[in-house]
Amino acid sequence: MTTAFKLRRLDVRDLETLRDIAEETFLDTFAAQNAPENIATYVAAAFSIDRVASELTNTDSQFFFIETGADLAGYLKLNTGAAQTEQTLPNALEIERIYVRRGHQGTGLGKALMQHAIERAIAANVDWLWLGVWDQNEKAIAFYRSSGFTEFDQHDFYMGRDLQRDIMMKRPINRP
Ligand SMILES: CC(C)(COP(=O)(O)OP(=O)(O)OC[C@H]1O[C@@H](n2cnc3c(N)ncnc32)[C@H](O)[C@@H]1OP(=O)(O)O)[C@@H](O)C(=O)NCCC(=O)NCCS
Repeated sequence: MTTAFKLRRLDVRDLETLRDIAEETFLDTFAAQNAPENIATYVAAAFSIDRVASELTNTDSQFFFIETGADLAGYLKLNTGAAQTEQTLPNALEIERIYVRRGHQGTGLGKALMQHAIERAIAANVDWLWLGVWDQNEKAIAFYRSSGFTEFDQHDFYMGRDLQRDIMMKRPINRP
């Protein structure tokens, strides 16, 4: 059963909280499997206040927090149009970040964030929801498969100086 939750869209007042949860969840997910210097290089660039502020004010991106009671449990970042990190699929919406904090994982909140992404994709009238996932992130890949995503491509990606492979996955959006 899913824990009771609330979803809310972020605005500029959430900047520092967003930056903090983005860095925390990224480190919790990837630090153990990557060299500290590569992680540090990535985090310094991706989660600087300036970078996160420019993403938060980009009208082609949407950020959401998922909260349980007084706890901030996770976040979601969606991109449309030019904000998408790749322009491979026509008429598509990207899930760039979907993260549930470690203590809240396995309680249905990832599924709730995914459902919200699907609803936003339907509302945006797109044909595809897509994402890229590190090929070593087996838990996330299993989660995406169970959410209806299938692999359609693979791309190289640099984590600091380490060349890694991302699997690109997509899910059709059935429009009414
Ligand atoms: C991937 C993630 C978002 C899933 O969220 P979650 O809250 O842990 O997952 P949920 O409790 O909502 O479970 C969703 C479904 O995935 C399944 N699932 C969860 N963990 C799984 C695992 N290790 N292996 C296989 N399936 C798994 C659940 O069984 C559930 O399916 P079901 O309802 O049919 O049983 C979350 O674990 C997370 O934030 N991980 C770290 C960050 C990350 O890797 N993000 C993706 C980067 S690309």
